[in-house]
Formats: sequence, structure tokens, C-alpha cells
Amino acid sequence: KELDIELAAIEKGNFEHYMLKEIFEQPSTIFDCMRGRLLLEDKKVYLGGIREYIDQLSNAKRIVIIACGTSLHAGMVARYLFEEICRVPVEVEYASEFRYGNPVIRDGDVVIAISQSGETADTLVAIEKAKEMGAIILGVCNVVGSSIPRASHAGVYTHAGAEIGVASTKAFTAQLTVLYLIALQVAKEKGTIDNERFKKLITELDLIPEKVQQILENSYIAQSLASLYMDAKSMIYLGRGYNFPIALEGALKIKEISYIHAEGYPAAEMKHGPIALIDEEMPVVFIATKDHTYEKIVSNIQEVKARKGKVIAVVNEGDDVVKHLADHVMEIPETDPLLTPLLAVIPLQLFAYYTGVLKGCNVDQPRNLAKSVTVE
Ligand code: G6P
Repeated sequence: KELDIELAAIEKGNFEHYMLKEIFEQPSTIFDCMRGRLLLEDKKVYLGGIREYIDQLSNAKRIVIIACGTSLHAGMVARYLFEEICRVPVEVEYASEFRYGNPVIRDGDVVIAISQSGETADTLVAIEKAKEMGAIILGVCNVVGSSIPRASHAGVYTHAGAEIGVASTKAFTAQLTVLYLIALQVAKEKGTIDNERFKKLITELDLIPEKVQQILENSYIAQSLASLYMDAKSMIYLGRGYNFPIALEGALKIKEISYIHAEGYPAAEMKHGPIALIDEEMPVVFIATKDHTYEKIVSNIQEVKARKGKVIAVVNEGDDVVKHLADHVMEIPETDPLLTPLLAVIPLQLFAYYTGVLKGCNVDQPRNLAKSVTVE
């Protein structure tokens, strides 16, 4: 027992909690995940794990993504990605809804199952059902040799290393990284991406680890915001496009870690309900990075400010417009807009972590939650 405690202390290094250690590991886990797969000099992406199924993936009429929890949010980002650069329709489904529904699986459909543990019961049963119906199953998992990779036809490991914190952090960014790599390889194979765009995306992807590092160096900003908002009763997280799933993930993190009620929404849906909740007590977290929806997000921020809500915004470095409108900003470096989710989630993880710590919550093992949900 004593030895266990000592070992755990060593593994945690100088970090107070596993969650913080795992958040800070992300520059290296994302780097490791791309190693030998993102071949910048050859201008290629190569994933050995899907080699035999690359034709089926490229010819897929539809991709269905199945997952739970944080892994589902990675799948939701992937939807925007595959649709944009691979021009293939994508559906993202909660594994539990898929398994008890009466889903339509057609010849040529490819199912991607995403799971950190590779043991989530709902995801496992869902892919078994899809397999029986004739789908090709690709697993995106972290734990090598776990049940989901074994039940899949092929797959790609995320190589993030053991994740101890119950709330997923480094496994999520590794899942995203793998999904970017799959989408890039498929887009290239299908010819749905031109060479210049491909080159830009792989060059930017290669720079992500150092940009994550830059965000982590400013973690004190998330920490100071946590001390300002730790007593909030509820929070709203808003984003558009590929940042909408990041809003969901930010809200999930704060719920899991600090027990503050939070909801994530696509920013435009605010007017269909959540806006009724906004008053001077309500913190609203926006992901307001520069892309084709930026102007729309700016007007959503104005709508919240007009109702005296408190605005915390994740913005690109050097953004002056939102900086003047929002109460607080957390900056992230610029990248290709499509890759923004990999950066935007980091300050939200830090904000949730520090809020939980300040509230005295058990951030590594939140109440009622389990790392691996192998029962229904
Ligand atoms: C649990 C964990 C979450 C995780 C989810 C899915 O609820 O607490 O962090 O996202 O399961 O797990 P999986 O291992 O399938 O990714």
C-alpha cells in the first residue's frame, strides 16, 4: 500500500493532481500521436492501422461515429472535419442511443468508434451491432489491446499514455489528433483537398504541440478567472461550427470537476432558450476565434453584454474587438481555423481544473463518476 502511494507520487511528478499533469502533458502526447504518421518532408500522412481499409474509407457513402462522453465531443469535431475536407456525410451518435435504436446501416457505411478506455459497454455493444449489420468498424482508442480495438476491423491508437484523471483531457486532444490525421489521409486519397490546403494543414498540425505549450505557460489566467467565478451557480458555453463541440466539452469539464451546472450550446441557439437565463450573475463562456463565423459570435457577445451577463471569451492572440466587449479573455495562438479545437479546449480544461481545486473538489476522482464505464 505504502509502495503504491509512493509510486503514485512519483508518477505525478511535481504536479498536485493527475489531471493537471495530464493537461500539461498535452504538447508531448499530441507530438507522440503524430510521430511517424505526419510525414512533413514527404508531404504525407500515413496511418498503418487503417492501411487495409483506406479504400473502404475513401469510398464510404457515409461515416457514422459512435462514442460516449468526451469521446463523443471528439467525434462531433470530426464531423465538421470529414464533411469539409473529405466531402462525405457524417452522423455522430451516442453509443447508447445507437444500440437501442433501429439504426439504418447500408453497404459501404464505415463506423468509427472512439473510446479512451476501449471498454465502454455502450460503445462496445453498439459496434458489435453495426458489425452484424455489415459496417466496417474502425476503432480510435487509447488503451492498447482493450475490447473495442479487438472488436474492430482496424483502427488507430491515440498513444496518449495512461490517463488517470477520470475526466478526460490528454486522451481527448489525442483523439482529435488521430481524427485530423485520418481525415487528411482520406481527403488526399479521395482528391477532395488540393495540395496547397493539404500542405497548409499538415504544416499547422505539426506546430500544434508548441502552441499548446504557449497556452499552458499562461495557465495563471485560467487560474485567476477560476477564483472570480468559482461561486457561480451555473454557466453557459457557446461556440459555432467545430467550436460548438468544444463548448460542450468545456461545459462537461466544469460540471465533472467543479460541480457547477453548465450547458454548452451552438451560439446561435442562445436566442431559442438560454438567453432567458442571462442576468448579471451568469458567466457565459464564448469560443470566439477568427473564422467565417467570427462576426456572428461578436454579435452574440453583444447580446449577452446587453443583458448584463459576464463574458469570458477564448480569442486569438491580438484580437482587440472581443477584448473590448468581453469581461475577460483567454488567448490562444492563431492556427488554421479548422485546427482551432485542439487549442481552444486547453484554456477550458485549465479553467475547470482550477475551479474544482479552489472549491475543494476531488478533481482526479469526481463523485459518482468512473474512468471506465463497463456496465450500463
Ligand atoms: C466516462 C469518463 C469520461 C469518458 C467517457 C467515455 O464517463 O468519465 O471521461 O469520456 O466515460 O469513455 P471512453 O473510455 O469510451 O472514452
